[in-house]
Amino acid sequence: MNRFQNSVPLEIIWNDMDNYTIKKPLLLAPMAEISHRALRELIASFGGCDEYYTEMISAGALVGNGPFESYYTDGGPCPGRVVYQLAGADGGQLAAAAAILDRKEKAGIDINMGCSAPAIARTGAGVRWMASPDRAGEMIRRVRREVKGRLSVKLRTGMEDDPEYLIRFCRRLESEGVERIALHPRTAKEKFKRRPRWEYVGLLRGALGIPVVGNGDVNSPEELVRRAAGDNDGVMIGRLAVRAPWIFAQVRRSAPALPERVNLEETALRFLELLARYQPREFLLSRARRFFAYFCDNLLWGTYVKNRLAREQELSAMARLLSAYFREHPDQRELPVPGVSPGPA
Ligand SMILES: Cc1cc2nc3c(=O)[nH]c(=O)nc-3n(C[C@H](O)[C@H](O)[C@H](O)COP(=O)(O)O)c2cc1C
Repeated sequence: MNRFQNSVPLEIIWNDMDNYTIKKPLLLAPMAEISHRALRELIASFGGCDEYYTEMISAGALVGNGPFESYYTDGGPCPGRVVYQLAGADGGQLAAAAAILDRKEKAGIDINMGCSAPAIARTGAGVRWMASPDRAGEMIRRVRREVKGRLSVKLRTGMEDDPEYLIRFCRRLESEGVERIALHPRTAKEKFKRRPRWEYVGLLRGALGIPVVGNGDVNSPEELVRRAAGDNDGVMIGRLAVRAPWIFAQVRRSAPALPERVNLEETALRFLELLARYQPREFLLSRARRFFAYFCDNLLWGTYVKNRLAREQELSAMARLLSAYFREHPDQRELPVPGVSPGPA
């Protein structure tokens, strides 16, 4: 039994939450090097979320039986809630990879049409699919033939800020059998700049017959509650769920495991344990750094801690450094996680 599990009190204290429950799906976003089993375990230990997208899985590596594929396709601890996200530029490879994943227990299979990282987009994958509705439509047709489960696409607004084009593009995807869209309403070039245009989520929803989930810059519990009350079929959370893996439980009265205050030290150490248990040695340091890049934003001297952690070469050294920080700053060990009022719809 580890310290963290022992420390979670069974009693749940909710403030001001009596008349509010978000009924829409709340989803963990796909994030490369972050949305893996260890993070899902951590989120689940606080009460979980409705669906967990995996980090993008390379279709080529999966079909070619790459050395780390068993880690990428580990759906634990709640395989039925996992959406496997595939990335690739080749329709045949994506279809073959989707056929492999379709044999697994899952919530669905998703195709990445949103990643704008140059290394991905340059190959014709990610957001580059959005440059050609015909190419994307033909690829989806091939993938659809292999997938009996739910097929979804996560995308951005497109190469340009053109909502009419976005609607036409998504109608084509829908006509080829895509059953849900997750929209991060920024263009390829915007990366994380400018505000996401959440009004496009409602626009797209009105133009399609399939559900449209919104994503982008939800960075507080209040913002999540506000977005969940908006014109969408669900809200997908990325970076906030790394900083605050309890966020889903925090905004849902029904969540079973969230205490009034979260112990940040125990959460951080627990994450390191989970990482060591569920990820290959080769991935440990990069994945720990990725996680703490966001989690350390909970700390007053978070940037300093991130920089120090980035220099460590062992998870055990990271754990020592974190514990030393909390010994020096015991007042930062616990973070209150109050409930959130519904606010105006
Ligand atoms: C480190 C990192 C890795 C990401 N990797 C992926 C990915 O593998 N697939 C994908 O579709 N989007 C990826 N994204 C984009 C997120 O899914 C999401 O669209 C974006 O972070 C905006 O949501 P947020 O503001 O809630 O973080 C990534 C984002 C980050 C920060």
